[in-house]
Amino acid sequence: MFLLALETTCDETAAAVIDPQLQVLGAVVASQEPLHQQFGGVVPELASRAHMQRILPVIDQVLHKANIKPQQLHAVAVAVTPGLAGSLVVGLAAAKALAVALDIPLVGINHLHAHVYACRMAARREVFPCVGYIVSGGHTCLYHCPSATEFELLGATIDDAAGEAFDKVASMLGLSFPGGPAIQRAAEGGNPRAYRFPRPMLGQGLDFSFSGLKTAVRYAIGDPGQGIDQIAQAARRLTPQQVADLAASFQQAVVDVLVQKALAALEHTGLNRLCVGGGVAANRLFREQLEQALAPRGVELVVAPLALCTDNAVMGAIAWEYLRAGKTSPRDIDVSPGLLRRKESGRTNLPA
Ligand code: KG4
Ligand code: ZN
Repeated sequence: MFLLALETTCDETAAAVIDPQLQVLGAVVASQEPLHQQFGGVVPELASRAHMQRILPVIDQVLHKANIKPQQLHAVAVAVTPGLAGSLVVGLAAAKALAVALDIPLVGINHLHAHVYACRMAARREVFPCVGYIVSGGHTCLYHCPSATEFELLGATIDDAAGEAFDKVASMLGLSFPGGPAIQRAAEGGNPRAYRFPRPMLGQGLDFSFSGLKTAVRYAIGDPGQGIDQIAQAARRLTPQQVADLAASFQQAVVDVLVQKALAALEHTGLNRLCVGGGVAANRLFREQLEQALAPRGVELVVAPLALCTDNAVMGAIAWEYLRAGKTSPRDIDVSPGLLRRKESGRTNLPA
């Protein structure tokens, strides 16, 4: 009994083979990072075409690694929401083809729920109920998760995701893509109090907003009336210390918001476990300050290792939870690129 999980929501083509005891027999991630690097962000059309090239070789590779034949697959799972439409379609089409050809069940999963489930995979023990926190390049959201199949969205970003803000600010400062690690490095020699950046929406519920903070950094570099080219010129005139101070002050502002919102969600739900996923969870300051804030409150923090934090297919093991409950998706399931704002309990026909 093996599950093949596929992941193509953004710019990683990934596949994993997982058994019912959640042992991972094989996992492959084909990153498109070099492809998008030159553009300073993911180009959706290039992403879907790259998925198209890679999806079958990645599936072959993972079956080879797991040392199993397609006929030994019990089910196929695929992330169908949220993500880039063209990218999602490639994964779903491949999953449907396999499900039909092998006459096995298809399970459409929510990519964000899967990110929380990555913590279950990393911890190798039950982590539900918990507050699920996804902080990535595409998403910033908080979930109340009473069980592995019940997710209630508590809050999400109303504009940019935290990782997106890192990427855009890094690009403004002339730092490399992806911006998060570059900002973290640049911030090492900087003063986090050198610039007084806003902490958007603090104390205002569980939604997030990062675009105003990004604009504040832009105005710290150049004048409000200046266009992108003039800001870029102004950024090139910054001293290394100014870049470090801007990076450190920006990073501190994001981390302050991320930590405070986590505390607010824990208080709101009355839960004492926080499961964090997404690429920004790799941020050292975020981890440190989150640990410092949670320890005195007796809250257990589960953060998956980086390979499970960024996009991967191992977290698609959440499909076993649905399969165990006898829940599979209809053959006409579609993708749903946007974030589902309603309560999403135990559903495998997600976009319907
Ligand atoms: O989860 P992920 O792969 O994003 C999506 O696919 O949505 O994570 C990528 C994001 C990027 O925005 C990147 O800048 C950010 O995570 N990131 C970081 C760090 N490492 C990666 N942000 C802050 N600090 C880091 N150390
Ligand atoms: Zn993701």
